[in-house]
Amino acid sequence: MQLQNDLLLRAARGEKTERTPVWLMRQAGRILSEYRAVRESVSGFIELAQTPELASEVTIQPVDLLGVDAAIIFSDILVIPEAMGLPYEMVEKRGPWFPNTVASESDLKKLRIADGANDLSYVIKAIEITKKNLAGRVPLIGFAGAPWTIFAYMVEGSGSKTFSKAREMLYTQPIFSHKLLQMITDSTINYLKAQITAGADLVQIFDSWAGILGPKQYAEFSHQYISQICDAITEVPVTVFAKGAFFAREEMGKLNCETIGLDWNMGIDESRKLIGSEKTLQGNLDPAALYGNPDQVRQATIEMMKQFKGSRHIANLGHGVYPDIDPEMVKVFIQTVKEFK
Ligand code: CP3
Repeated sequence: MQLQNDLLLRAARGEKTERTPVWLMRQAGRILSEYRAVRESVSGFIELAQTPELASEVTIQPVDLLGVDAAIIFSDILVIPEAMGLPYEMVEKRGPWFPNTVASESDLKKLRIADGANDLSYVIKAIEITKKNLAGRVPLIGFAGAPWTIFAYMVEGSGSKTFSKAREMLYTQPIFSHKLLQMITDSTINYLKAQITAGADLVQIFDSWAGILGPKQYAEFSHQYISQICDAITEVPVTVFAKGAFFAREEMGKLNCETIGLDWNMGIDESRKLIGSEKTLQGNLDPAALYGNPDQVRQATIEMMKQFKGSRHIANLGHGVYPDIDPEMVKVFIQTVKEFK
């Protein structure tokens, strides 16, 4: 189906656009009372994510309520470990938790490489329904976690400030680490390909824990696997968002992808110089800027837009929107981007 608003795709490919497209990471979620209402009608996050009609409904909410230029499929990066044989739970107010973790080569025998279309059929179904219900209004973004970030949760078993268990593995069991990272990578490629077949117009790779690795370890245990994914996905534009990986920007500029996401710690001019002119940049307003009043939000947004100078840019925050942000301020952010000349 022909898209009525394809700004995001044109900006990703580096084509001319009338204005800069805008969406927000974590736009489908707790900032919206309409999301919370749907969420309360089920037992929890996992049931919501596994019910394609409801997942599709909350995916489309931000398009209707906020006016963003893209929808992102409602799911989580942790569906991959589950599809590989390592289920997770979402503990209220605390986040993800894995009853079992992966600690040695013998644990790998209990895992399998996920087949996206079969093992994650509920996400694929949600994408199909969403494409139908969006009826071409805006593009649909598919996504997956980067192998290192998924590895970190599978080894650590939960979120962590330091992910010290996961980082320990890289030093003490590098062969095991590479084997697990390769299994995650192969699963992720299968999964992203299935999302694209179902209708995803662009895919984003979230390396949320990139910034806790040093440059050398990042190159060996994260970047090379992201690079494999970028090489494998040729059907649609790919965005790589490696939070905190300021030290890897030059290398990211050489990835076989269209867009690089910036967090708010990364200087815009400096990032453009390091990454080069061949990539679109996405981001990067500090999510906390949305705690300001409307004038402050407007000013902060204009300041960001000026720095990107309108060239190969997709406007977004520098990380996911915080759940306690007033949706009215999200609307001010979106409107300011749309009016920026
Ligand atoms: O709108 C969107 O962006 C699409 C939905 C989406 C979710 N998770 C839904 C979600 C996306 C893209 C993600 C990605 C994700 N999940 C990441 C990468 C992005 C990032 O923030 O760095 C990570 C690290 C996770 C893992 C995860 N999922 C954590 C740490 C948590 C708990 C913290 C929290 O925000 O509650 C989740 C839960 C989660 N994923 C929620 C949502 C809407 C909240 C659960 C709920 O509604 O009860």
